Amino acid sequence: MTGSKQRDRQGKPLKPSAAASATVPPGGASRLVPLIAETTIKQKVEELGHRISQDYRGMHLHLVSLLKGAWVFTADLARQLQLETSVDFMEVSSYAAAARSSGRIDIVQDLQASVRGLHVLVVEDICDTGLTLNRVCRELRRREPESLKVVSLLDKPARRVEPISLDYVGFDIPDKFVVGYGLDYRQKFRNLPWISAIAPHATDLPDRKGT
Ligand code: XMP
Ligand code: MG
Repeated sequence: MTGSKQRDRQGKPLKPSAAASATVPPGGASRLVPLIAETTIKQKVEELGHRISQDYRGMHLHLVSLLKGAWVFTADLARQLQLETSVDFMEVSSYAAAARSSGRIDIVQDLQASVRGLHVLVVEDICDTGLTLNRVCRELRRREPESLKVVSLLDKPARRVEPISLDYVGFDIPDKFVVGYGLDYRQKFRNLPWISAIAPHATDLPDRKGT
């Protein structure tokens, strides 16, 4: 955790657990600053699972998980849902600067099945500018689901370029590049059980994007 002012959606301060600050992450501990502890994530995912289960009570919920970053969150969230649930995966490319104006996203790996007539919940790791989720939702809406909502574990509202309505959010975070719990830096750190920021002196991120 990098400051005392960081709060979750309910206004509770984010507390680093002893585990997060004491355990050395693989691949270069000095570069990483613990931001959200494993126990805090676990509690939040349980809360989200409970809320979503209530909102979709009696319905079949189809999760669309955005690879690669959302795979860990999806696996944990799915197991908190007391609902009949199915899961499909989509991978979209991190856009280059040129794509920002064109609004184009490349679907690297598309869903296996149609979402037509289904209650779809898009599961995302982090919402940054909002461009990716807006593009994905536009594409999914074209495929005529019965309903479409979004859950994002993390939100960086300071970086928003396009307005977007997020139906469920785990944590608002400051404008820092984060890794762990599925999020990567050059494909590393996805397996960390907690979320860390990469210390500013160590970031050499060409486009500040993971996947
Ligand atoms: P946009 O800007 O479209 O970006 O909302 C969303 C996607 O960008 C990636 N992203 C990150 N990945 N650490 C990461 O590992 C970060 O801090 C970060 N910020 C954005 C992510 O793939 C997300 O789906
Ligand atoms: Mg992503």
